[in-house]
Amino acid sequence: MQIAIDGPAGAGKSTIARMLARELGYVYIDTGAMYRALTWKAIKNNIELNNSQALYELARETKIQFTNPSGDQRVICDGEDVTEAIRSPLINASVSLVAAKAEVRKVMVAKQQQMAKFESVVMDGRDIGEQVLPDADYKFFITASLPERARRRIAELQSQGYEVKPAEVEKEIQARDQMDCERSVGALKTLPDSIVIDTSLLNTEQLLGKMLDIIGEKK
Ligand code: C5P
Repeated sequence: MQIAIDGPAGAGKSTIARMLARELGYVYIDTGAMYRALTWKAIKNNIELNNSQALYELARETKIQFTNPSGDQRVICDGEDVTEAIRSPLINASVSLVAAKAEVRKVMVAKQQQMAKFESVVMDGRDIGEQVLPDADYKFFITASLPERARRRIAELQSQGYEVKPAEVEKEIQARDQMDCERSVGALKTLPDSIVIDTSLLNTEQLLGKMLDIIGEKK
């Protein structure tokens, strides 16, 4: 069983994907965390973020794993726990640059497909329904208005102890969405078989109920 969840930044994809996976007993794969971990490593290694070849080689040699899939999931990059580090404002501002590289995406998509080969998964990202799991049983497109997505991202950053300027967060989300939608490969888009849900007026419980109804697993 494969459930794909795509959508723009701050729409609440990872929260709902995690809850859905727990409810269904599937493995949750956060593909955004994989691009974030790669960006974190590139910055740490002083790799120029426009250097496609260097990023391609880095993507190939980097091992990204998720531990504790059913609980408080951790992101491990080459043995190092980067769960918190990959959520920083610097990574937020840089990740779309790395993710726009076709060479990088080729490597990452293959890794993601491998992860979904032998298990039932809920996978969230931008190109899951189109590129990673084109035969997914369900393809959700989760979105919300820009102010609502900015509000959620501000709350998330503040809870992590970051001082944030609300207008800048909104601008950063908008810039990331634009890059993610306009790139030539793996662009974010709705598909003919997408199930589009606007979560602006829904809380996570309501959204979970709606998705479970669609999947046919009544709570
Ligand atoms: O989902 P999240 O906001 O953590 O993703 C971070 C970034 O990683 C996105 O803005 C996008 O540039 C990239 N990404 C991607 N393809 C995916 C998942 C994430 O390009 N499947």
